[in-house]
Amino acid sequence: MTSLTVRPRGPFTADLRVPGDKSVSHRALVLSALSDGTCEVHGLLEGEDCLSTARCLEALGVECQRRASGHWVVRGRGLAGWQPPRQALDVGNAGTALSLLVGVLAAHPFQSTITGDESIQRRPQRRLAEPLRLMGAAVEGRGEDCYPPLTVTGKRLSPISYEPPVPSAQVKSALLLAGAHTEGETTVVESSPTRDHTERMLRLFGVAVQVSGGQVSIRGPASLKATSLTVPADISSAAFFLVAGVVVPGSRVTVRDVGVNPSRTGILDFLRAMGAEVEIRNLRQEASEPIADVSVSAGQRLRGAEISGDLVPRMIDEIPVACVAACFASGETVVRDAPQLRHKESDRIGAIASQLGRLGAEIIPTNDGLIARGPRQLHGGVCDSLGDHRIAMACAVAGLAASEAVEVRDTECIATSFPGFEDLLAGL
Ligand code: S3P
Repeated sequence: MTSLTVRPRGPFTADLRVPGDKSVSHRALVLSALSDGTCEVHGLLEGEDCLSTARCLEALGVECQRRASGHWVVRGRGLAGWQPPRQALDVGNAGTALSLLVGVLAAHPFQSTITGDESIQRRPQRRLAEPLRLMGAAVEGRGEDCYPPLTVTGKRLSPISYEPPVPSAQVKSALLLAGAHTEGETTVVESSPTRDHTERMLRLFGVAVQVSGGQVSIRGPASLKATSLTVPADISSAAFFLVAGVVVPGSRVTVRDVGVNPSRTGILDFLRAMGAEVEIRNLRQEASEPIADVSVSAGQRLRGAEISGDLVPRMIDEIPVACVAACFASGETVVRDAPQLRHKESDRIGAIASQLGRLGAEIIPTNDGLIARGPRQLHGGVCDSLGDHRIAMACAVAGLAASEAVEVRDTECIATSFPGFEDLLAGL
């Protein structure tokens, strides 16, 4: 088991790049695999999660070749061209891979089993199985809540219009991909907008996706034209360094070429609401996504801020590291409307409260969020990742601003989304 020790440090200036966006990388592989020809992907995240997606696609008969760092060539097999896998598909720790694959396999005429690591097997997939079953798919898992391994038997599907009870980009994407294979119009209704990478990328592959008034529709059967694309840097990975720049007073951090899709920039709005200075420069378009250079500095004293409603899906994966900033802000930071946090790579509400709590943070879990009270000068100590990459990295960032060293245990999981994190942190 590896661990990481982070020592407190004084003000720093950093100008860095982080790896490719995980959500966009998964979609780039899967949509390329459904396309009618050869696709080149640049800037692909080569974290464990995306490598799992590539391995599953290979097992489904799709050739995915690595040419150079981040440069992959995927030979698409068309909409109905994936082959029956010889054994269970293993998505490792990757919930997004599982969702996207199940959406596609629900319409492929064979049976497949999709499994993953211990954490995946603890994440209920009823939210995914239920709407797919309404389309006529056969998706079975353990128990009523449908825990993986999942068995998917492909069927001829019927279109539906569906509103997920808790907005989810993974569920929306699975339904849109199933809809791409289905005759007629499939619609997902969103009470709060979630990340729209699938919609944008489907358009890049030449598929019409209609978006209006919280409804996203696709008309099938669709045909994906092979294309090439570059993946932007992951704002969810950048967030660890942006928060580092905010909690170590007098620091300034710039992260280059970051994806700034408005459905993902909630962390920037949150840091601004806390009183941090956030600058976005050199805004431009890269394939289907906007990218920019993002800089932060602490500015005035930080104050607590609220994360609720539409802001939740816009920063869902950044809430653990946002809690680190909250510890150093005066007043309360309240997170609500985020029950889905309990079913991520860990129960993130319990995990962040308990692990930052070991460093002296005051974080009180609630049913659908938490309350963090500050300011608290965090002290040193030992934190456990609980197998969750974002908990590990959030605790490491806390170590930069704590009064003594913080040791984070069980840090292998960081490789799922952010290979090179430790080197970048050490190089600050
Ligand atoms: C993701 C959507 C979000 C996010 C996850 C990636 C995606 O999950 O937390 O890390 O790529 O679509 P939900 O759809 O469960 O909200």
